[in-house]
Amino acid sequence: MPKILSLINGPNLNLLGTRETDVYGTTTLDQIVATTTAEAKRLGFELRAIQSNSEGDLVDAIQQSADCAGIVINPAAYTHTSIAIRDAISGQSVPVVEVHLSNIYKRESFRQHSHVSQVSLGLIAGFGAYGYLLAVQALANHLSNEQSS
Ligand code: DQA
Repeated sequence: MPKILSLINGPNLNLLGTRETDVYGTTTLDQIVATTTAEAKRLGFELRAIQSNSEGDLVDAIQQSADCAGIVINPAAYTHTSIAIRDAISGQSVPVVEVHLSNIYKRESFRQHSHVSQVSLGLIAGFGAYGYLLAVQALANHLSNEQSS
């Protein structure tokens, strides 16, 4: 049975490729899912990807990742507002890596706080689509360190 990683993307990320390309780049979400799936496979994982514009669907996706080895999540704007997403993460034991395409800490002040970072293993921000590959690598490394300890 292959180990599964869950990739969860939040609101407006379905528009990647055309949305504010100066901030988020021109890579589409389908391309991100394809390259992240390939990287996960290279590291011995299967990837399960979902995107939703709804907060409740994202909470459901986190809860439904209980059978996964790890979660990569870009909660998008809900990063800055959602205690429900934070609680969904802290209520389970699957390790989470938070990803942002942009460096949220050099943007508007309302983006400079994340409810999700406080309950995540780590945060990758500012490397565009490449950040998703870094997140999968970080999770794989964390899981193999956990196994050998
Ligand atoms: C984002 C940053 C958020 O502030 C924003 O609302 C997004 C995308 C990022 O990937 O850089 O939708 O999460």
